[in-house]
Amino acid sequence: MSERAIGVFDSGVGGLTVLKEIRRLLPGEEIIYLGDTARVPYGTKSPATVTRYALEAAGFLDGIGVKALVVACNTASSFAVETLTQRYAIPVIGVIEPGARRAAALTRSRRVGVIGTEGTIKSGAYSRAIQALDPHISVYPAACPLFVPLAEEGWAEHPVARLTAEEYLEPLRQAQIDALVLGCTHYPLLKKTLAAVLGAGVELVDSAEETALQVAGILRTADLLRRSPAGPPRYFVTDVPTRFERVGGAFLGAPLEGGRQVEID
Ligand code: DGL
Repeated sequence: MSERAIGVFDSGVGGLTVLKEIRRLLPGEEIIYLGDTARVPYGTKSPATVTRYALEAAGFLDGIGVKALVVACNTASSFAVETLTQRYAIPVIGVIEPGARRAAALTRSRRVGVIGTEGTIKSGAYSRAIQALDPHISVYPAACPLFVPLAEEGWAEHPVARLTAEEYLEPLRQAQIDALVLGCTHYPLLKKTLAAVLGAGVELVDSAEETALQVAGILRTADLLRRSPAGPPRYFVTDVPTRFERVGGAFLGAPLEGGRQVEID
């Protein structure tokens, strides 16, 4: 079992920020990544639809034979982690809980902001997870849908991103948060812009980093860390891989090639 790969899926390129962190922490692990590029975005879709997509993505990875499933998408994690956990015997790790835990540990003022897609914010998943850890924390959520195309366009530090961030984050500034959860796979690319808008008094919680820590902890505890040398990550996509390879490099922090188109539904 330990020699199997870690399965990671997302709606598209965003989950590559999670893959990048897992690789940084666990360079000896093999990773199989699935980007559901034919059906992206998940962030605007209903819970039922996203859950169905997540089940199909997980089914594809489980069919290959992975030792753990990482739901590297905040929207899919918000809606489908429980269903996936019930269905599979292998560990299923979403991005919500690790980010929530870090935010609850970091905040001094007990005022935490959460930004994400429409779906993630509407689901209330982060608010529930943070308040389950500490009911005295006030959570200030904000949907920031335009950050996704800005990150994919390579405009994360463009003046347009800065203006957009000022607009979206104004209510959170007013609320005097001291920690902000980046509750979408694309947002780590906007860290510089978000930090500039919010100032030094607000800690940014990168759910990709926190999730990688959780994956490492779970594999270690279950004695599932790989012993033989690992090959490079394998990439599967549900649309032609051209755009995924071109845009994905920025999310991965390295050139990306070798995407293979598959059908999962
Ligand atoms: N990966 C998605 C998330 O983290 C963002 C992109 C999408 O809407 O599919 O919620």
